Amino acid sequence: MHHARGVCSFRPGFRALLCALAVALPGLALAQDQAGNTAVHAETWPTAHSPLPPDLKLERRIQALLASMTTEEKVGQIIQADINSTTPEDVRNYHLGSILAGGNSKPGGGRFADPQQWLAAADAYARAAMQVPKGRPAIPLLFGIDAIHGNAGVTGATVFPHNVGLGATHDPELIRKIGAATAEEVRAIGLNWAFAPTLAVPQDVRWGRSYEGFSSNPKRVAEYAPAAVEGLQGTPGTHEFLDAKHVLASAKHFLGDGGTHNGADQGDAQISEATLRDIHGAGYPPAIDAGVQSVMASFSSWNGVKMSGNKGLLTDVLKDRWHFDGFAVGDWNSHGQVAGCSNEDCPAAINAGLDMLMAPDSWRGLYQHTLQEVRNGTIPMARLDDAVTRVLRVKLRMGLFDTSLPSKQPLAGKFALLGDAAHRALARQAVRESLVLLKNEHHLLPLDPHKHILVAGDGADSIPKQSGGWTLTWQGAGTTNANFPHAQSIWSGIREQVAAAGGSATLSVDGSFTHKPDVAIVVFGEDPYAEFQGDIPNLAYKPDDDSDLQLLKHLHAQGVPVVAVFLSGRVLWVNPEINASDAFVAAWLPGSEGGGIADVLLRKRDGSIQYDFHGKLAYNWPRTAAQTNQADPNPLFPYDYGLSYADDGDLAALSEDPGIRLDNAQSGVYFARGKPTKGYSLILTDAGGDTKPIIAMPASSTQGDLHVTAVDYHVQEDARRLAWSGQHPAQFAITASNAQDLLRQTNGDMQIVALLRVDVLAHGDATVGVGCGANCHAEIPVQTALSGVQKGHWTRLGVPLKCLQKHGADMSRIDQPFVLRNAPGTTISIASVTLAANADRSVECAEP
Ligand code: BGC
Ligand code: BGC
Repeated sequence: MHHARGVCSFRPGFRALLCALAVALPGLALAQDQAGNTAVHAETWPTAHSPLPPDLKLERRIQALLASMTTEEKVGQIIQADINSTTPEDVRNYHLGSILAGGNSKPGGGRFADPQQWLAAADAYARAAMQVPKGRPAIPLLFGIDAIHGNAGVTGATVFPHNVGLGATHDPELIRKIGAATAEEVRAIGLNWAFAPTLAVPQDVRWGRSYEGFSSNPKRVAEYAPAAVEGLQGTPGTHEFLDAKHVLASAKHFLGDGGTHNGADQGDAQISEATLRDIHGAGYPPAIDAGVQSVMASFSSWNGVKMSGNKGLLTDVLKDRWHFDGFAVGDWNSHGQVAGCSNEDCPAAINAGLDMLMAPDSWRGLYQHTLQEVRNGTIPMARLDDAVTRVLRVKLRMGLFDTSLPSKQPLAGKFALLGDAAHRALARQAVRESLVLLKNEHHLLPLDPHKHILVAGDGADSIPKQSGGWTLTWQGAGTTNANFPHAQSIWSGIREQVAAAGGSATLSVDGSFTHKPDVAIVVFGEDPYAEFQGDIPNLAYKPDDDSDLQLLKHLHAQGVPVVAVFLSGRVLWVNPEINASDAFVAAWLPGSEGGGIADVLLRKRDGSIQYDFHGKLAYNWPRTAAQTNQADPNPLFPYDYGLSYADDGDLAALSEDPGIRLDNAQSGVYFARGKPTKGYSLILTDAGGDTKPIIAMPASSTQGDLHVTAVDYHVQEDARRLAWSGQHPAQFAITASNAQDLLRQTNGDMQIVALLRVDVLAHGDATVGVGCGANCHAEIPVQTALSGVQKGHWTRLGVPLKCLQKHGADMSRIDQPFVLRNAPGTTISIASVTLAANADRSVECAEP
């Protein structure tokens, strides 16, 4: 009842009346169960129970510990910091209960770290946690990492297919084994916590994190959840449960992360309580029944209320209705998004039921404020005690108190476990089982390995691309095959088997050949992405780049049968690509074992089938680029669809009407292939302020200070050369007809990246900036950055959005995403300007 009242107090007018009525007449409560309402009726949710029997001895030990702790020590226990922003001394001085390594955080602060460095760091932090003054309680540390498809943030680890592919295997037993293998690879480097499994049930795969979800079908997620949890943590009731060969798991992101409006990352799920419960909640009760010991709150909101501050869900449902006795952890500064909070200060999240706040870089301020708030009663001591109790309970259950340094654990230092042969074999099996065959014209597949096979496409020999986001780096960007010591590309897997059979395979990324091949395998698809950088405006595959389609068509036109292997984190509208292929395989993001593709595509030497297709869609495949709702009743290929070799794989030509105007303005491309994106124009401005749009080539500013000609980057005249050839500085700008809100991209560390070549650099004060409407702009000096790039070479130079913000730009209304100003004498060529996560070189952010 008090929830109904809580909501009533926020809602004026007619709703208030409804609320008042509902409070008075419980029968009317149903009327509230509509989108727009955040009252939670916990009693309508299914129940769940921890499988662990009550343990009085354990609880007594917790109470004794708690009684011996100071308020400072308690507050420290419920704060988690990132290793990039914390030293072991900090852990000791602030009694921090946990640390994490975020997607881009490696020990040593570099971009990569070897297993030794990880283990040494684990020891250093763990030791610091235990080095307490005499008489103080020593409480061991939890060290978490995003081991979401294997321990893939770590060099050499087995990279399992992302969950989108595992969903297609329909094989919970496999999920369990993958969890167990992942746990071993986490333990090998001395860590004890994996932020997995993701139990999202994505309903709109424009969401860039869709690949982290097994399926858009809640049944599939519910079926996998216990297997994933037990794989990581071990089976409750056995002595392996939470032992030193397993890790703590986190079911995430609680709740409704896959149900946000338009699939926006960290967005708002505007859905009824029934939908939240039955679709998005489906995986949690089974995960809790399987003993999951931590649950991570979502960044997202439910009907306008941030999950990290939702007491009805965090406390009434998760803890009371589901009897969850582990702890609830926040997401990366997710508490900071709760109404009235900042990253450094958020009593509301703790009072709502979060037991540990992930405060990667904000932990210090958060510690101080939280301490104050406990002292002045804003956070009741009972709530703090409950949170600490839960954290301690999990640590005790894990046996952390009984063991010494991470490096003394049974699997620690067994670095051979990273990329272990058995783990790789398991991953390869998962790859085979995840492939879904959508088309197989005239039974083109399986291929005879004695033939001459051309392997093309930019995904053919790219382990980063076949692995996707959350692989070595957060967004999966900025790596090459050389960063993956125990991995095989798809091309390498094909070559190996074709060579063994006595056929011939040739790698030709662009599809060119001298001897006509018998068949071509073209591997292409989405480039790696993760949180929100992967959000897209519609389901069209690369609407602003048809080079893959051209490649397929080009081969086809020469009479070469084409097998398309499509790498993607989600189902996408690819009708033109399907039409241009004779066979089409959805391969998702298979990870380190590219050989699994050859296992299925190629026959044995004796002509028999090696492995048939096994995968069936775990998502509905869209009929148009506009069909963004997984619940749409008329998909192109429905859930559970997937051909096998015996099936007739012929497919009539598909409509190539995307069903929507494809506008790449939202895809983060401002200028490419010599043209501004639709909705943008190129403007030259002289020192005097005269402006002039570039209409045709060549072009000049009004006073002739800046002269623009067409030059070649990849193809003829696909770039522009800007020559500051007059007497005064002048500027080149990309201007939008509608301002764009780039706040989310700014928070996510994205950059404006210009693919440019410095031809001549004069002395001067070169700047790059953005415009944000009348009297609003920011300019950053880039003279040093430009003099640092190699002359005459194409370089992707990045300007961090955060830096532009720091220099005064209002990132919520950017109408000039790129303004380049130079002094006379400079010549710079530009091939593209985009929003991106990574650049070859980023501008150092000077103080404004
Ligand atoms: C993600 C989580 C992840 C955490 C730690 C967040 O941004 O949403 O899924 O576990 O970072 O890296
Ligand atoms: C971290 C990720 C985290 C993200 C949140 C990144 O810098 O590496 O782990 O999920 O920030 O925005």
